[in-house]
Amino acid sequence: MARAPRSKPLRDVADLTKAQAKVEHMRLSLEIEGHNERYYQDDAPTVTDAEYDALRERFNALEERFPEFVDAESPSQKVGAAPSRRFRKIRHSLPMLSLDKAYKDDDVRDFEDRVVRFLRPNEPTLDFCAEPKIDGLSMSLRYEGGELVTAATRGDGAVGEDVTANIRTLEDVPQKLKGRNVPDICEVRGEVYMTKRAFLALNERQEAAGDTIFANPRNSAAGSVRQKDPRITASRPLGFFAYSWGELSDSPPITTQTGMLHWFEDIGFETNPLTKRCHSVDELLAFYHQIEEQRAKLDYDIDGVVYKINRIAWQEQLGFASGMPRWAIAHKFPAEQAITVLRDIEIQVGRTGSFTPVGKLEPVGVGGVIVQNVTLHNEDYIRGIGGDGEPLREGRDIRIGDTVVIQRAGDVIPQVVDVLIDKRPKGAKEYHFPKKCPCPLHTDVIREETATGEEGSRLRCSGEFACPYQRIEHLKLFVSRKAFDIDGLGEKQLEHFFEEGWVKEPADIFTLHQRNTKLRLEKVEGYGETSVRNLFAAIEARREIGLERFINALGIRQVGETTALALARGYSSWAAFHEACFKVAKRDEEAIAEMDALDQIGETVIKSIADYFSESHNRRVVERLTQQVSVLDAEKPKSNSAVSGKTVVFTGSLEKMTRDQAKVTAERLGAKVSGSVSKKTDLVVAGPGAGSKLKDATKHGVKVLTEDEWLTLIGE
Ligand code: IVH
Repeated sequence: MARAPRSKPLRDVADLTKAQAKVEHMRLSLEIEGHNERYYQDDAPTVTDAEYDALRERFNALEERFPEFVDAESPSQKVGAAPSRRFRKIRHSLPMLSLDKAYKDDDVRDFEDRVVRFLRPNEPTLDFCAEPKIDGLSMSLRYEGGELVTAATRGDGAVGEDVTANIRTLEDVPQKLKGRNVPDICEVRGEVYMTKRAFLALNERQEAAGDTIFANPRNSAAGSVRQKDPRITASRPLGFFAYSWGELSDSPPITTQTGMLHWFEDIGFETNPLTKRCHSVDELLAFYHQIEEQRAKLDYDIDGVVYKINRIAWQEQLGFASGMPRWAIAHKFPAEQAITVLRDIEIQVGRTGSFTPVGKLEPVGVGGVIVQNVTLHNEDYIRGIGGDGEPLREGRDIRIGDTVVIQRAGDVIPQVVDVLIDKRPKGAKEYHFPKKCPCPLHTDVIREETATGEEGSRLRCSGEFACPYQRIEHLKLFVSRKAFDIDGLGEKQLEHFFEEGWVKEPADIFTLHQRNTKLRLEKVEGYGETSVRNLFAAIEARREIGLERFINALGIRQVGETTALALARGYSSWAAFHEACFKVAKRDEEAIAEMDALDQIGETVIKSIADYFSESHNRRVVERLTQQVSVLDAEKPKSNSAVSGKTVVFTGSLEKMTRDQAKVTAERLGAKVSGSVSKKTDLVVAGPGAGSKLKDATKHGVKVLTEDEWLTLIGE
């Protein structure tokens, strides 16, 4: 079976303009948070693990390409979801982290390469501990004086839920640790799981009693642990495998991961019996395939194999990067595939008008979800000559009527991984891209330009804001968090208002209140008197807006958040920027040179600005908007603060401010905020969980401050 192509989402992400990437980042972050909540708090996920992983993969790829998108609120900065309010909270003494993932054999080889490059060991081989990745819920058990005192779920990685009373009912969790050499404080971490047999029996009982039916053993284990009444947990057969430790008051005389597992057994825990010590990547991969074959016969669910560097001193040396250990990786089992028929191809038009061909499938179940759409990337991909996406096999192209193999993994929507040519019907039709856009304007189709100004592989509509498809996407950007940030005006409502013709362009949002005697928004489903009042208040609150947000909200191609900030800094006032845009549109050489001289602004951005302001429709949209809102001048960064001119890096989780706030404040005070530590860094502000950047700071002798010290330094 083919492995999930890992490079695929990265390539797709690389195709997005910064503005598109930003919108995608926000969209994914909301989606991921929703899934986290349903998974961790409600024990009722609505997507498969593979789909969730695919979302996370894409999200990570976005943040990798645009590190400036990362803020404290980003799902990448948290693990899972905040704990539910049903249980008392427990702050983990050491964060409970998640693992980096491998999908292909090469990812595992890359993992080994990274480790070797980092450690430069003298020995020729590395020793690994390979453990099945148990598909349950992770648990941190704290023992003091050998007695179990608390059991906490992972929660968001920093704070979990106190489920001690429930966990005490598990046979595999000792109340008291065995042996004399147990540290006074001893945290043991592992996975709570339910056997498949117990899960089926439980569901039968639940069904008979008319109670919740669980989707899989993991959800039923999580649901059973998160009961208010421990007697219910006690009635559910749950197991526990120990696999790592948290806080320890003394280090037991243990030097390897395999030794740690034996020690867990000595002090009273179960560990997974399939665990194997391996001495090479080939051995790891052989073990992985052997476990994959055994998987169906095991009485508990596993979703991959975890490889850990066996020597604990090396684990410690390797440490952590981006909240994940460098010394371990989870090699996931491949995403599920299915065979179905491609019925049709439709064109989807994005915010900047770019076309994505979407394959309409004969609906088919993959990994428990019905799939009807599949991305076909672009024209070249369909014709089998490359383009985006994992290329099809040599000589394959995609035609309407083809039988295709689809896979859900590594991307937001599923993709075609193969075409069964011998099943191709006689009448299978080659797909030809439309010459006119499917939008109501039927504009001429043009080729998209890439960020470097070259001809891209995608086609797009040339209708810009006159195109209703692009207008709605632009409106979504307009109200989004990094632009006008209008509370109570989500995508759904906006789409509704747009379809009704109530909001056709940004300025219309500001006249909604005045027009409401006619519109009667409070009668719209999902709204009521209060929410409409709140919406109007939220809109009013945005009549004044900072220049950088305003520029970002205009939806100019290639002008995202960072570029908008650079422009705002460069021109300071809307009047100055607006005038420059007009001049640039008229090819005024002096104005072009002036814009070009700004930090981070180059030819492509200037061309986009010129194109945007050459279009009379866009100019009118902007003009009508500026009649409704006042654009505040950009604040000039201070040149006399304690940090002006300094390069600062924020790392770890900040507790008194979000990453965004920290960045904005620092920049306002004249500091430059960077994403990585180098010799040029002046200060590193490190919160809990800081990893590699903190190490880099020590390496380069950079001064490290706590969050409080930073606040004192800047006088807040
Ligand atoms: S080690 C620092 N070992 O997978 C990370 N995790 O994405 C320590 N899991 O949260 C985790 N089996 O819930 C480890 N043998 C195993 C595991 C395992 C399942 C889960 C665990 C963790 C997640 C990592």
